[in-house]
Amino acid sequence: MAELGHEVVGVDVDPIKIANLSAGRAPFFEPGLGEMLTKANASGRLRFSTAMADVADSTVHFIAVGTPQKHGGNAADLSYVNAALDGLIPFLKEGDLVVGKSTVPVGTAADLAAKLAASATGATLAWNPEFLREGFAVQDTISPDRLVYGVQEGPKGLQAKAILDNVYAVALSNETPLVVSDYATAELVKVAANAFLATKISFINAMAEIAEATGADVTKLADAIGHDNRIGRRFLNAGVGFGGGCLPKDIRAFTARAEELGLGESVAFLKEVDSINLRRRQRAVAMATESLGGSVNGRRIAVLGLAFKPNSDDVRDSPALDVAVQLKGLGGDVICHDPEAMANARSKHPQLSFADSAADAVTGADAIIVVTEWDEYKQLDPAAVGEIAQGSLVIDGRNCLDMAAWREAGWEYRSMGRPDHDR
Ligand code: UDX
Repeated sequence: MAELGHEVVGVDVDPIKIANLSAGRAPFFEPGLGEMLTKANASGRLRFSTAMADVADSTVHFIAVGTPQKHGGNAADLSYVNAALDGLIPFLKEGDLVVGKSTVPVGTAADLAAKLAASATGATLAWNPEFLREGFAVQDTISPDRLVYGVQEGPKGLQAKAILDNVYAVALSNETPLVVSDYATAELVKVAANAFLATKISFINAMAEIAEATGADVTKLADAIGHDNRIGRRFLNAGVGFGGGCLPKDIRAFTARAEELGLGESVAFLKEVDSINLRRRQRAVAMATESLGGSVNGRRIAVLGLAFKPNSDDVRDSPALDVAVQLKGLGGDVICHDPEAMANARSKHPQLSFADSAADAVTGADAIIVVTEWDEYKQLDPAAVGEIAQGSLVIDGRNCLDMAAWREAGWEYRSMGRPDHDR
């Protein structure tokens, strides 16, 4: 927002995060964010605070806190959203706009709007879901592929739209599509989009299961169906499946909310989407076990990748980290590497061992398993790796390596949903 020319104050309850941000240090790895933060801090348009009172001069108040999966259940934990609104209310004034960005179960915005109305501050609420992807967060924020405003009916809704149009003036001037709706639609757009993406990935992973049993090649299948414009090739990459802080918890929260509404049947398929997704991690572990003669116990396995996707240090619900933990749990001598996510992985799973480089990880390994498709791993030279590894088994959990090159260099190359041998 500061990059776009607005005067911004960022508030968080975590003093360490605020100190780091104030010093120009981004709290996580995201390409381009560090540079943009430094620039924005220097511009004088961006500052950070732990004191909610510092919002008093602002007119637009974004709530962008997390809505993680509740402990012991599938529903979303709304305590942070509620706490943020409760904290804001004493500092709101007539004409202010509170804008929800967090991903919430449908019906939440109406409840928050009622709370806001009861506070008699004169402020109104809009719901403006966020669609950014990790790894592309800066680009997606500055140039989003669409904007959605959920507003109330009547003059207050029009006023909210005018304020948001001003906030997003740059994107709108570049003809970014805008959908203005009621609160429920805006809330649903976000979960529906993520549910669709998750379904697309699980669909192709289900095809990978069928391909594995029939000798078909899921990548060629994806290419072929992807040429149909109605289907499209994107998000049809089979592998160890989806993870991260959004897709897994969003489909579970959506199912939980639908069940609360007595509409469980409408999204019952999302449970299947979740199960297919989790089965692919088991499949990668089973493939390693089977290829190493029935047990990974005591075998040295290099796990390349820990982040849930490349260009991120996020290990939340990461299939890659899960595969590493499972192989370790089965007695494997597991050595992990990731260009960015090792610190996060270590703090969650200190029992794992970490190598300083991919080369160190593969040295002496009986098997290599690639579970996050970082460029660095795609560019590995199979002949050079063959000289330092002990064994010759490589499992490509993301179908991202050059299959022909690895096989030519003498590797037993196995991947997800593709034949184990060249035709
Ligand atoms: C997702 C949505 O894309 C974004 O719009 C929303 O705002 C937040 O959630 P993100 O979590 O950053 O973004 O990751 P995304 O790029 O969607 O990938 C999610 C997972 O799916 C990753 O683990 C990725 O490896 C996996 N994936 C993606 C596949 O397994 N196959 C694919 O073809 C695509």
